[in-house]
Amino acid sequence: MVNDGALTPSRVRTIRTRLLAWYDAHKRSMPWRGSHDAYKIWLSEIILQQTRVDQGTPYFERFVEAFPTVHELAKAPENRVMKLWEGLGYYSRARNLHKAAKMVSREMDGKFPETTDGLLELPGVGRYTAGAIASIAFGVQTPVVDGNVLRVFARLFDIEESTDLDATKERCWEIGERLVPRDRPGDFNQAVMELGAEVCKPRGALCGNCPLNRICLARAHGVVEERPVRGKKKKVPEREWVAVAVKRRGKYLLMQRGSDVMLGGLWEFPTGERKKREAIRTAAKRILHETTSLDCGDAKIVGRIQHVYSHFKLTMHVAVAEATGRVRIDDYSDSMWTNDVESMALHKAMQKAFALLSDSPSRPRS
Ligand code: ADE
Repeated sequence: MVNDGALTPSRVRTIRTRLLAWYDAHKRSMPWRGSHDAYKIWLSEIILQQTRVDQGTPYFERFVEAFPTVHELAKAPENRVMKLWEGLGYYSRARNLHKAAKMVSREMDGKFPETTDGLLELPGVGRYTAGAIASIAFGVQTPVVDGNVLRVFARLFDIEESTDLDATKERCWEIGERLVPRDRPGDFNQAVMELGAEVCKPRGALCGNCPLNRICLARAHGVVEERPVRGKKKKVPEREWVAVAVKRRGKYLLMQRGSDVMLGGLWEFPTGERKKREAIRTAAKRILHETTSLDCGDAKIVGRIQHVYSHFKLTMHVAVAEATGRVRIDDYSDSMWTNDVESMALHKAMQKAFALLSDSPSRPRS
């Protein structure tokens, strides 16, 4: 149980004062900090979903340079947005980003909603992101809870239940509601996240540097490293795909994935799932036919790459084949022949496959 007794009004005041003073002295500089431009705050928060600040910052800068306002982003061709997003993963975030920009630009005159309920109407904006934008850009007194905040609260209040449980997460939102101040709610929220990232780290917490160390219950109980309690990790399933590179007159065949599937909208060589115990060459021939109607002779296996997604581990075999005939698309949404594969928005596994192909001695000659 959370020790609610720990949240007396004077304790709440202490937490706010110490955290904000620490934040003022130690906050990292980030290109969107200090701005109340809702577009920039929104963009930074969408990029930072599932991405660390140091990884996300260069992406933020490239996006702002390419699209200084929400109107430019709304008008951009989808492939340009996906290309700029390349490498961040979770591509539905990029598609939602583009959709939300169109909504704000066309239906809201370029102005982001100023309440959490209004923000929640935008594609890709959930409870965390709505709270972050509302508090940081508009000064709304509303909390945020992400992984860093869960860890800070689990330690500060020595929460013994797993933070993977919905009930525990809900509890942390309630704690956040009680802690977030009317003045500087955005700074307070960022201070908790920053403390989680820089001091109250998952392993090797730097308690000596923590402004809350004297009131931290996990520290008092000697269990900082055992908090937060996590549920057992499920074993990640493994999948095998085969990608078939077909080249004609110096151009590769690329297919665009449908918009409502994983990695939707991104480009790849014709790719499909290998069946259990199916020979890779047989799989290559079958997959090429099923996805494009093309028939090929023997495919050459060039190698394989591995990539880890959030819900499965992928091994992708890469084959090259020669094929004649006309391409017909079935599950894919588009196809093209191109000699500039790298300028297309490829998903990460396909970038690895293309790199493998470019290095391979058996690559087909143009
Ligand atoms: N993580 C996500 N958004 C953040 C922010 N504004 N400050 C610190 N960490 C963050």
